[in-house]
Amino acid sequence: MFEILRTIDAMRDWAKTERQTGLRLGLVPTMGALHRGHLALVEEAQRRVNRVVVSIFVNPLQFGPAEDLAQYPRNLEDDLRQLQGLNVAAVFLPDSDEMYPGGLGVTRVTIPGLSEVLCGVTRPTHFNGVATVVAKLFHIVEPNVAVFGEKDWQQLVIIRRMVYDLNFRVSIVGVPTVRAENGLALSSRNRYLTQEELKKATALYHSLQEARQLYRQGERRRDALRRVVVDVLTNAGLSYEYIELVNPLTLQPSPEYLQGPTLVALAVHVGSARLIDNAILGREQLDEAALHGNGD
Ligand code: PAF
Repeated sequence: MFEILRTIDAMRDWAKTERQTGLRLGLVPTMGALHRGHLALVEEAQRRVNRVVVSIFVNPLQFGPAEDLAQYPRNLEDDLRQLQGLNVAAVFLPDSDEMYPGGLGVTRVTIPGLSEVLCGVTRPTHFNGVATVVAKLFHIVEPNVAVFGEKDWQQLVIIRRMVYDLNFRVSIVGVPTVRAENGLALSSRNRYLTQEELKKATALYHSLQEARQLYRQGERRRDALRRVVVDVLTNAGLSYEYIELVNPLTLQPSPEYLQGPTLVALAVHVGSARLIDNAILGREQLDEAALHGNGD
């Protein structure tokens, strides 16, 4: 059974004691509503360190005023039950007053260039909120390794950049997206969907598969690859917020003819949910060392 730590001081003291005995710590930051995707992050952390800490905190700073902070799924009992089988050492469970006493504070970690594109276009303060809370969590836990899912590829790139620029002593590890049998990427926000919408949402994965297939057949025209994604989504009756082909490390738009590994990233509205997914075309050519930053 794991320790449940609700205050920053308690979390710090626990981590310090573990470190003093020579143990390596891993952190899996989450906002709860855990699913198999989160459990895969925990398992990856366990392969790399002796003690895994999972944080559960729905971070108000990363939600815009019109977004789903109030509705965001919360089910602590179920989250803790899922973690029980996994040999997690501690769960950090602060509330908002603990993380942001007296309001949301004024200091923000901003990563310009990477934060305003893709999801940042419609969620202009989102990644500042993510980077700020992750920086706070890194200071509190001081993990050797922190693990994030590749479904949130932009978040992963941004956190790696923050760690590099601000000299955090933590290795950032990305874990491939965990999918349902029908291909749908697991996401806490899938809980907003009806059975019918869940079926429709598989079009996200199918559209990426179509682009992959075309790429394998030799297609390198950016617009043709994008077109196939648009077609699958529109034929499924879905409206998209963006479908972009970008460099997976810089997130800048791909040239008209792809010249290297390319991230196909999309955000799509399904019912009341906004879902994201991505695929990397030509991933085998991606410099995994650059991808994994400090390469732990
Ligand atoms: O990916 C998430 O769940 C959140 O953005 C994170 C990294 C836990 C920060 O609140």
